[in-house]
Amino acid sequence: MRKFALLATAFALLPLAQAQEPAAAAPAEEAVAIDWAHWQAGNEIGNTASLQRGARNFMGYCAGCHSLKYNRYSRVAEDLKINDGQLSEYLLPAGSRKADYIITSLAYEDGEAWFGKAPPDLSLITRSKGSDYVYQFLKTFYADPATPTGVNNLALPGTAMPHVLSDLQGVQRGVFRTVESKGASGEITRSEEFVNFDNPVPGQLTAAQYDEFVRDTVNFLDYAGEPYKAKRIDLGIWVTLFLLVFTGLAYLLKKEYWRDVK
Ligand code: HEC
Repeated sequence: MRKFALLATAFALLPLAQAQEPAAAAPAEEAVAIDWAHWQAGNEIGNTASLQRGARNFMGYCAGCHSLKYNRYSRVAEDLKINDGQLSEYLLPAGSRKADYIITSLAYEDGEAWFGKAPPDLSLITRSKGSDYVYQFLKTFYADPATPTGVNNLALPGTAMPHVLSDLQGVQRGVFRTVESKGASGEITRSEEFVNFDNPVPGQLTAAQYDEFVRDTVNFLDYAGEPYKAKRIDLGIWVTLFLLVFTGLAYLLKKEYWRDVK
């Protein structure tokens, strides 16, 4: 019995002993790099409030340069449960009609001349590059005096797009470190490796609010690329419910039929 008590105490103390073992010391100067390439948008296409906010964000901050040439305002309003009053107040640009496609007023040639590259139509961007990519793109602008726009981007290095959300996010600075690697013949090559951001110029939004802003915007682009997706998820719930009820009914019916046979 004594032995058992001793053993039990020993086991109880085991975690303590382990906890006291010194943690493997990480080299102090090796800061852990932010894994931005694995950031996930985490947007929900069934979240209508988020889609509405995303539509407002898009019209306010993106439609000046980008089109959604396969989407009509009226269809967006219908899908996102935006009424006529809200549509004309918040979304419809002056001079546009409900039935119009969402086309930017920026002419292709002007875009090319001003940015060196015309802003692409964004109807299918989340389908071609993924919603996580667009999320990463909008979050990884950083100051770079060497570019014409004054900013660069981790997801699309050398991008021609200015940081149009800098009022909201602020302008973050990229912190890089030089890594040296030895080639096969012993020559040393140096390259810049991204570590993290610091944000000396804060914007109007907190980091969490900015994430939310970007998530909503990406959600709207996700919807725009496949307007049926939101409906399909809606419908899926009803189909499942119907099948459940139907199974119940079929079972009752079967019992009813077989009662006389047995
Ligand atoms: C002032 C004009 C302008 C505005 C406003 C603007 N963009 Fe852009 N955008 C561009 C240009 C120019 C490019 C082309 C960049 C390139 O290919 O380097 C671009 C490219 C993109 C791309 C494609 C990136 C790729 O990998 O090809 C995405 C996504 C994008 N913009 C999203 C947005 C979103 C979302 C907004 C609104 C928050 C927005 N843009 C607002 C000018 C603009």
